[in-house]
Amino acid sequence: MEFSGFFVLLFHVSLCLSVLSVQCRLYDYSIYMHHRELSQISIPPSPAPQPATFSEPAAVFSVLSYGAVGDGFTDDTQAFKIAWDAACQIESAIFLVPKHYSFMIQSTIFTGPCKNGLIFQIEGSLMAPDGPDSWPKTFSKRQWLVFYRINGMLMQGGGLIDGRGENWWNLPCKPHKGINGTTLSGPCDSPVAIRFFMSSNLTVQGLKIKNSPQFHFRFDSCHAVHIDSLYIKSPSGSPNTDGIHIENTNDVKIYNSIISNGDDCVSIGAGSYNVDIRNIKCGPSHGISIGSLGIRNSRACVSNITVTDSVIKHSDNGVRIKTWQGGFGAVSKVTFENIHMDTVRNPIIIDQYYCNTKSCTNQTSAVYISDITYTNIKGTYDVRSPPMHLGCSDAVPCTNITLSEVELLPASGQKILDPFCWNAYGVLMTVTIPPVFCLLEGFPESLPTNDIDQC
Ligand SMILES: *[C@@H]1O[C@H](CO)[C@@H](O)[C@H](O)[C@H]1NC(C)=O
Ligand SMILES: *[C@@H]1O[C@H](CO)[C@@H](O)[C@H](O)[C@H]1NC(C)=O
Ligand SMILES: *[C@@H]1O[C@H](CO)[C@@H](O)[C@H](O)[C@H]1NC(C)=O
Ligand SMILES: *[C@@H]1O[C@H](CO)[C@@H](O)[C@H](O)[C@H]1NC(C)=O
Ligand SMILES: *[C@@H]1O[C@H](CO)[C@@H](O)[C@H](O)[C@H]1NC(C)=O
Repeated sequence: MEFSGFFVLLFHVSLCLSVLSVQCRLYDYSIYMHHRELSQISIPPSPAPQPATFSEPAAVFSVLSYGAVGDGFTDDTQAFKIAWDAACQIESAIFLVPKHYSFMIQSTIFTGPCKNGLIFQIEGSLMAPDGPDSWPKTFSKRQWLVFYRINGMLMQGGGLIDGRGENWWNLPCKPHKGINGTTLSGPCDSPVAIRFFMSSNLTVQGLKIKNSPQFHFRFDSCHAVHIDSLYIKSPSGSPNTDGIHIENTNDVKIYNSIISNGDDCVSIGAGSYNVDIRNIKCGPSHGISIGSLGIRNSRACVSNITVTDSVIKHSDNGVRIKTWQGGFGAVSKVTFENIHMDTVRNPIIIDQYYCNTKSCTNQTSAVYISDITYTNIKGTYDVRSPPMHLGCSDAVPCTNITLSEVELLPASGQKILDPFCWNAYGVLMTVTIPPVFCLLEGFPESLPTNDIDQC
């Protein structure tokens, strides 16, 4: 259905009303009579010169009205750009990707700021170009759809976003994808499917997204982000396909979502705080992670993160904090609570020796980890690794790790593996299964306070 002509008229009407000239209103009143759809608009009392306070129906900007074809092959990028520019300038606009169509679009930056109340409604399918060979040489290979400097947008709909990542995952520079299972060196950029950058007050809900070449969603330098009811799916062997990655972003809610992929369901990078994650079904995947932080001696500050009421299944990790050696900064005030583990390799893990090459050397600084609480973490672990691994830095111990109601049983067999701790200080509030004897009591006598950067 084509809405745009009708809504251009509607926009004219509302402009006209705001001008509040009597003729204008009389003229438009005759239009009202012919458009029953408009009948919910109340006419402002005449002749009071006040701003109109009635609620306007939204203007819909369907990409079809701007020349998009939606056959899954035609490059519809230009139509999307023009429709965006039009929608962005109108208050309460709906940018519509209509149902029953499939739009192939190239890497695009949707730039704001836009007028208030913008809705990006995805009812049909959005498709990325099919792999690196179809990616224009001059375009960044790091991102597909970017939303930049947007303040206040709702992205939603029953449609599907398809990143068509397979040929990216199989590039010879990806882990073990070179000849005879080698990994070729060199740049290996692959696009993030949906990236929000320097934006705020965003809601993303109800969407399905699959097969991103790299992260599915990435939020960097954003504020006030609410994510709800997403369905994210990629194969378990797809490299770096994190579900939702946030970085330098604060006041984030991630609720009610189902994620399975080849990397972390949710990953939280440097500069993130006030993050609330709830009711996530995660796996197969690499779990929910804070990190990796402190790469190449960088400073990272992450605090006030909660992950609650979630299920993690068939994953390499459950809830993880990972840092490189040699970093600075701190991770503090993190709560993992009411999490069910089903056949997870490292249900509870702190790894301050994270290294994805063979050439990491021991260093004398680290991101300081403190005030980490694990409450009611129950279920089963994959017996290839111990259910708890608290591997803290030699240089800077972890402090105030609290465990309560942790009960983890082997997923198969009777083999109980002892928890592993290294330089980890904390308290057991209840008896745990398996019992933890390796946690150090109290606080370290010589916390190198001068070297610790509390953020
Ligand atoms: C956030 O966006 C919504 C809808 O887009 C808008 O109604 C609200 O006023 C915005 N809030 C802020 C603080 O910008
Ligand atoms: C790959 O392995 C096969 C069998 O081991 C060997 O014959 C072949 O030379 C190898 N190819 C390269 C490029 O290393
Ligand atoms: C921690 O984050 C939550 C939102 O997840 C927020 O409501 C709360 O105020 C934050 N606490 C502090 C001390 O900033
Ligand atoms: C690094 O430190 C660990 C733990 O103290 C030790 O086992 C390892 O041998 C050290 N590695 C090097 C290369 O010094
Ligand atoms: C330990 O961490 C908990 C949870 O963050 C916090 O409430 C408590 O004050 C911390 N204890 C100390 C001694 O810092």
